[in-house]
Amino acid sequence: MPLERSFAMLKPGVLQRRLVGEILSRIERKGLDLVAVKLMMIDRPLAGRHYAEHEGKPFYLGLIDYMTSAPVIALVIEGMDAVAVLRTLCGATAPAHAAPGTIRGDFGLRIEQNVIHASDSPASAAREIGLFFKDDEILAWKDGNDEWI
Ligand SMILES: Nc1ncnc2c1ncn2[C@@H]1O[C@H](COP(=O)(O)OP(=O)(O)OP(=O)(O)O)[C@@H](O)[C@H]1O
Ligand SMILES: [Mg+2]
Repeated sequence: MPLERSFAMLKPGVLQRRLVGEILSRIERKGLDLVAVKLMMIDRPLAGRHYAEHEGKPFYLGLIDYMTSAPVIALVIEGMDAVAVLRTLCGATAPAHAAPGTIRGDFGLRIEQNVIHASDSPASAAREIGLFFKDDEILAWKDGNDEWI
């Protein structure tokens, strides 16, 4: 398995619902490493660049309104096969149909507010990490636990 980085975002409402610890805990317990963390508000230009592939779709303006409505937590996550592993942890896009035990499956119903974003490919991850983080804000670390997880 390749050592990869993925980009994730805890979406608006996660702070208000006090779900930050629960979600980060699931990512940690899986064995992935948090190598960058940023609490921030996203402005409309940044939200638009992040979700550029969806411009023109019926849900696009609502998506941008939502993503800029409250603070988010941007994350860079590192580990073996991190992109696919994180997508599996998140579950299907529509929370109503996401499997129980996944983050989206356990914490909501509405597709418009599906708790977490995760990159869909290594190329997307590289692009998205570059939108939200400077190189020197990403801190690789080693704790010696890798052989146990
Ligand atoms: N049919 C839809 N109606 C309303 N909102 C939608 C719909 N499809 C997607 N969205 C919203 O747009 C976001 C981006 O959609 P995308 O197809 O990239 O799904 P995803 O990759 O699972 O989600 P994300 O990119 O946020 O990780 C979704 O997370 C969801 O909030
Ligand atoms: Mg997506």
